[in-house]
Amino acid sequence: MADKSTSSKGSTVTAETPVAATPKGKIYPIVKYGDPVLEKPAATIAKFDAELEHLVEDMFASMYAANGVGLAAPQIGKSIRLAVVDVTVGKNPEAKIVLVNPEIIHAEGEVREEEGCLSVPGFRGYVVRPQFVTVRAQNAKGETFEIRGENLLARAFCHEIDHLHGILFLTHLSMLKRDLIKRKIKKLRKEGEW
Ligand code: NI
Repeated sequence: MADKSTSSKGSTVTAETPVAATPKGKIYPIVKYGDPVLEKPAATIAKFDAELEHLVEDMFASMYAANGVGLAAPQIGKSIRLAVVDVTVGKNPEAKIVLVNPEIIHAEGEVREEEGCLSVPGFRGYVVRPQFVTVRAQNAKGETFEIRGENLLARAFCHEIDHLHGILFLTHLSMLKRDLIKRKIKKLRKEGEW
């Protein structure tokens, strides 16, 4: 899921920038709409090992680099049921949420709000999501937990879990809005800008 603000600007990195300031983890390019990996259901994760823990760090690094509040593994080309969420975009380390094999077990209320996606850069649209959701998931060690989210956090959970089902936010838009965005993307692709 994309960040709400579009005005943030990265600070200039100089030779004096301390190494500690560099976020750890590999930064993956984000897969864009049109790639079939985004529209197929991801596989359940059964192996909880160091490789998975590394991938989680890489996912956070990739998400922060893209200024996002959520990122699902299919968005870096990996069709597995893993997503990361941080609605503070790295400001609060305690807000980092790892969702392995997540499912929504309870949803309540409705909020209509504008939403975007790192895989559909430059386009936003209004999507109705639950105001509250409870998610059951595993962490990177395979331990099961439940977490409740409200408003933006609930929206991020729904958006990322949708990704793991191969569903993009475009699906939830009005047909008119969806077709408009798809036409614009088609045009961008023709111009080699997508
Ligand atoms: Ni997304």
